[in-house]
Amino acid sequence: MSSEVETAWRVPLSDVRLPAEAIAAAREVLEGGWLSSGPRVAGFEEEVAAYVGTEHAVACSSGTAALELAYAALDVRPGDEIVMPSLTFVAGANAARLRGAEPVFADVIGADDLTIDPESLERCITARTKAVVIMHYGGYACRPQAVAVARENGVALIEDAAHALGAGGELGNCGTWADAACFSFFANKNLPLGEGGMLTTNDPTVAEAARRLRSHGMTSATWERHTGSATSYDVPRSGFNMRLDEVRAAMGTVTLPQLDAANARRGEHAARYRALLDAVDGVATPFASRPEAERPAHHLAPAVLDPGVDRARVMEALRAWGIQTSVHYPPTHRLSAHRACRADVAETEALAERLLTLPLYPHLEPGRVEQVVDALQAALGGQDDRRGRGASSGTRLFD
Ligand SMILES: Cc1ncc(COP(=O)(O)O)c(C=O)c1O
Repeated sequence: MSSEVETAWRVPLSDVRLPAEAIAAAREVLEGGWLSSGPRVAGFEEEVAAYVGTEHAVACSSGTAALELAYAALDVRPGDEIVMPSLTFVAGANAARLRGAEPVFADVIGADDLTIDPESLERCITARTKAVVIMHYGGYACRPQAVAVARENGVALIEDAAHALGAGGELGNCGTWADAACFSFFANKNLPLGEGGMLTTNDPTVAEAARRLRSHGMTSATWERHTGSATSYDVPRSGFNMRLDEVRAAMGTVTLPQLDAANARRGEHAARYRALLDAVDGVATPFASRPEAERPAHHLAPAVLDPGVDRARVMEALRAWGIQTSVHYPPTHRLSAHRACRADVAETEALAERLLTLPLYPHLEPGRVEQVVDALQAALGGQDDRRGRGASSGTRLFD
């Protein structure tokens, strides 16, 4: 079997290149005899806490696990409501439901800003609201007013920062704004470890609860018993198995110092997309008014098609060129499991058929952004068969 993933894409949506140091770090753990959570996980937690700028970081098995731990640590109970944007990954809504809580879906600001709308958030909060989840869409930080609304209403605040490791906004580093923040190390994220997650917090009670709950609720860890620093345990409150393992923690520790450079390369491609797409009819790039000083993590390269553009036809035309695109996200309030939930989503509804995500990863080869934009322009201009030429130059598309 080939060691490389073979796909038909000339330009995939995202692509993972692990540095040699990460592979060496993984090998060292694999040869060392202790694979589950241990000192490397503790070390990775310290590195992430220092990088993000929080007192505590609790590693876990996925971004979804981090959200589940946050809900549990903040004592979300059956019957509680959790307000979150509809335009996000379904993990936060599923986790709410699985705790017996009710997701309530707030709107996004609009075509230029796909983060949660503070006014919609205010409308969604009721006496039953236990928590609010804000999501830094594509690595662009939420508006600070959303945080203010949650604080003024006295509800718990969670950042879904799955897209936002290394990002900043008006309130500082993403991951420091809330009672708990949840990062993902899933295979297509800015720090890809295959799977993995991290909860960051400045609240020692939240950190302690998440730390216990990720390992069955036990008062001591297997590693502590292995090393003799503990001999037994109690379980005061039932928990999960959501531990991160030493292999991924070792990989994370050696790749974290490279993240800022990788995010900066993403930012260069994103700026190129924005400049080129500005000249293309039928499509716009959101977040144009955000200053680069806010430090987006550029997890995604989102585009918004004009109303009435047939997105399926555009995606199919790009696919024929070997260019993978996606939609972030099918609005959660439209998914069958969550259709009955309360939702304040007029803008999300208006945008649902217009969102398109273009390929973006740090090592996108020179000329790729131009090719993607030319293919998109050809598709939007109706020249979407594979003999079509890029309307802007006619020379940049694939032979
Ligand atoms: C916004 C958002 N939240 C949560 C998650 C869940 O993260 P994970 O896949 O690590 O469980 C993801 C990742 O897919 C995501 O994009």
